[in-house]
Formats: sequence, C-alpha cells, structure tokens
Amino acid sequence: MSDKDHWDQVYSINPTEKLGWYEPHLQISLDWIKGLGLPSDAPIIDVGGGASTLVDDLLDAGYRLVSVLDLSDHALTSVKTRLGKRAGLVTWLTGDITAIDMPMHYYELWHDRAVFHFLTRPEQQQTYRDNLLKALNPGGHVIIGTFAPEAPPKCSGLPVRRYSPEQLESTFGREFELQRHHKTLHITPSGVEQMYLYCHFRKKILSRCRRDVEGGSG
Ligand SMILES: C[S@@+](CC[C@H](N)C(=O)[O-])C[C@H]1O[C@@H](n2cnc3c(N)ncnc32)[C@H](O)[C@@H]1O
Repeated sequence: MSDKDHWDQVYSINPTEKLGWYEPHLQISLDWIKGLGLPSDAPIIDVGGGASTLVDDLLDAGYRLVSVLDLSDHALTSVKTRLGKRAGLVTWLTGDITAIDMPMHYYELWHDRAVFHFLTRPEQQQTYRDNLLKALNPGGHVIIGTFAPEAPPKCSGLPVRRYSPEQLESTFGREFELQRHHKTLHITPSGVEQMYLYCHFRKKILSRCRRDVEGGSG
C-alpha cells in the first residue's frame, strides 16, 4: 500500500476525534505562532495538516494567507467540509512534501506536527529539508513537533524516527537556528503515552555571497 493509500484509509475509516494524534486544539503550536507576532498577511503553511483544527484557529486569529498541504485528499476534504464557506479563504495543496514543487522564499512560517518523523530514510529527510529551505523566506520560522526519543517507535502503524533537539538541529543543518524546544506528553484517545518534542527554528539570513563581500565585480 502506498503512503497516500495508507493515509486516505486512516482518514476514511476513523472519525477525527479517534485518531491517535487528535487534539481539539494544537495549543502549543497556536501559542508559539501567536508569540511570533507575525502580521496577518504573513504566508503560513501547515505541512501535513491532516484534519487538525490549526487552520480553523489560524483563521479565527485573523491570519489571511494560510495554506494546508497533505498527502491525503480525504483529510483535506473533511477539513473543507468542517470549515464550510471559510474553506475558500485557505490554499489547499494535495501532495507529498518530499516531492511537491514549492514556491521560492514565500512562507514566513512553516508548521509541521507529526509529519517529518515519518520520513525515516535520509533521502526523504533531505528532500523535505530542500523544500523547506526553498519555500521559507530568510528569517522565516519553523515550528515542528516530532516524537521525542522516549515515544513509541511507531505512529499510525508506521515506523517513525524520534528526535532530541540536537538531532533535529543537526538534521535541519546550519541554515537553521534553534530558538527554543519543549517536550510535552500526548495521550492518545486509546490511552497510549507519546512524548512529543516541539522545536522552533529560524532560517538564518545568510550574508551576501563572498564575491559581493570582497567587492569583486565578476
Ligand atoms: C499523524 S498525522 C498529523 C496530522 C496533523 N499535523 C495533526 O497534528 O493533527 C500525519 C499527517 O501527515 C500527512 N503526511 C504523511 N506523509 C506525508 C507527506 N510525505 N507529505 C505530506 N503529508 C504527509 C498524513 O496524511 C497525515 O495527515
């Protein structure tokens, strides 16, 4: 079964509130996002947003340029239905974050809760990082939640890679600067404990290229 089939099946079989990662509101994400003080027209993307209510809460908070990307049409359709007319205010992107073509330096905030950790192969992590680097404006923010080392080795029946802040920092590389991190225990609707690691990174504004700095006319 392809990853897309897996996720479409998960969302078509289960009510949203029964999904292992379900939370009525992604409160940590929301608090951290609001704390950034971004203007209401800052482009924001929720990568692998699934059926989460983050998009509803971002619209309520007044953000006007929100995009939600997911592999699963089923997940996005259920959110569009929930939002009703407000769905028209959101940009919906169906695709694989390791393969989709992203705009250059567009987003001010990239949010990912429980998506990156499914990318267990180094080449998948690399293509995700390449897309992040391309799509995020210099100085832009990344808020990411993954399983922490003490979390179970699987999520939704799929293997995951678990991260410490240092491991996530080294996977994202020197173009990103870790601003803060925080662990929080999530308990699934069926009672399983999952420790999450949340990190806030900022994409560095790199200095001009060496030739410019050295005054070369080239
Ligand atoms: C565990 S769920 C988390 C959903 C949501 N972020 C939340 O916190 O409620 C993982 C989500 O990532 C999506 N996903 C998995 N792999 C993906 C990929 N390669 N590209 C885009 N979305 C992906 C799935 O369809 C699913 O909605």
